[in-house]
Amino acid sequence: MLNPLITTIANPPAIVLAVVATLLVVLVGSLKGTGWEPTTDISDEVLQKRAAAVPETEFPEPGNRSIGGGGGGGAIPAGGDGEEGELEDGDAGGSGPGDIPEDEVEYFEVEFVKQGETVELSNNEPILEQGEDEGWDLPYACRQGQCVSCAGRIADGPSEDFVEHDNQQMLEEAEIDDGYTLTCVAYPRDSFSIETGEAP
Ligand code: FES
Repeated sequence: MLNPLITTIANPPAIVLAVVATLLVVLVGSLKGTGWEPTTDISDEVLQKRAAAVPETEFPEPGNRSIGGGGGGGAIPAGGDGEEGELEDGDAGGSGPGDIPEDEVEYFEVEFVKQGETVELSNNEPILEQGEDEGWDLPYACRQGQCVSCAGRIADGPSEDFVEHDNQQMLEEAEIDDGYTLTCVAYPRDSFSIETGEAP
């Protein structure tokens, strides 16, 4: 009896039948598919649920990290509508008594009563600084017109008849009328006598 394989090889119609049958099996298998189906893209749904669960933040989170609000990335715009370089109060720098140019400086005779001396003071430096330049240990604290540590008194009348205050923030009108001045921000405008270390 012949081996079946040898029988098939020796029989061309049988070979054709075997090839056709194999192709049919492969074709049917591919038509049936594997049964796998892609899952629905749920990323948006998940994000929506997470957004609803996360409370609003009170500060802007950077870029894409914000979920459920928090807003806009916190970017700082570079410049406004043509306002670049302007100061908030519209003051473009201005000039105060300390900005008087050297060739316009004036000098006045000022008597420091407690020190027992009369000196020439310029109108472009505060009384306090010029008194210190004389070597006197005058009282002060803030040096910005925001306390009364440097206060002194001009006995001859309202202090602003003799000095210009550059942004003093402590003295009342009545105190100025009574001769008090804050020497750290007071620039001479006339000759006068002053008692340092005198506060209202
Ligand atoms: S030192 Fe403070 S107001 Fe002059």
